Amino acid sequence: MATAHIMSNKEDIASIVIMPGDPKRAKFIADEFLTNVKEVNNVRNMLAYTGYYNNKKITVFPSGMGIPSMGIYAHELFSFYDVDTIIRIGTCGSYKEELDLFDLILVDKSYSDSNFAKSYSGVDTNVTMGNSELNKKIENTAQQLNKKLYVGNVFCSECFYSLKNENSKLIAEHDCLAVEMESFALFHIAEKLKKKASVVLTVSDSFISKKETTALEREKGLKDMIHLVLESIS
Ligand code: HPA
Repeated sequence: MATAHIMSNKEDIASIVIMPGDPKRAKFIADEFLTNVKEVNNVRNMLAYTGYYNNKKITVFPSGMGIPSMGIYAHELFSFYDVDTIIRIGTCGSYKEELDLFDLILVDKSYSDSNFAKSYSGVDTNVTMGNSELNKKIENTAQQLNKKLYVGNVFCSECFYSLKNENSKLIAEHDCLAVEMESFALFHIAEKLKKKASVVLTVSDSFISKKETTALEREKGLKDMIHLVLESIS
């Protein structure tokens, strides 16, 4: 079977998908955390893998960067591969002093100035939300594992580079803890297709301290988040 952007057999895609942005990170997750791993997609080098964690079948499928790319993969996986749940595991830039590099955030609401919801479904909204049941599971698992998990809103931006500085407005008006670029599309698609989605983020850079992580640190430093999400669904 093939869709416009995925060439996988339907039975090779699990009903639960973990979704990093970066295809290399998908390979890292499969190599480090899953057993009996099989490569299930390589179209456009969006390398995806299906394997097992605690006997549970899980697919790791990258989203690429930004709302349009997330929109393609989330829609095709939910609509054509019968995926029930997608959990994005990504990185974000922190707007808050108390959020340091490698801290974890579970996204409650995603605020965006994007037109995605209107284009996708005709719904004129700037706020989308993660699945509350799934979020509760992730919160409970974090408690059991003694992992600090911040819960809050993020700004889902269409521009990594922006000439405007609206950070203080986003914090004041929408209570955003951090910025990333994919959650808004994932939440909206999941809601419209009656599926489940959550987003967990690791802070990879800070607008306050100006600290940043390297690409290698990000690849390796995300283990806490990956472990939390895999434990939450197994
Ligand atoms: N901006 C947008 N997306 C991001 C950032 C950022 O600073 N860091 C990680 N994802």
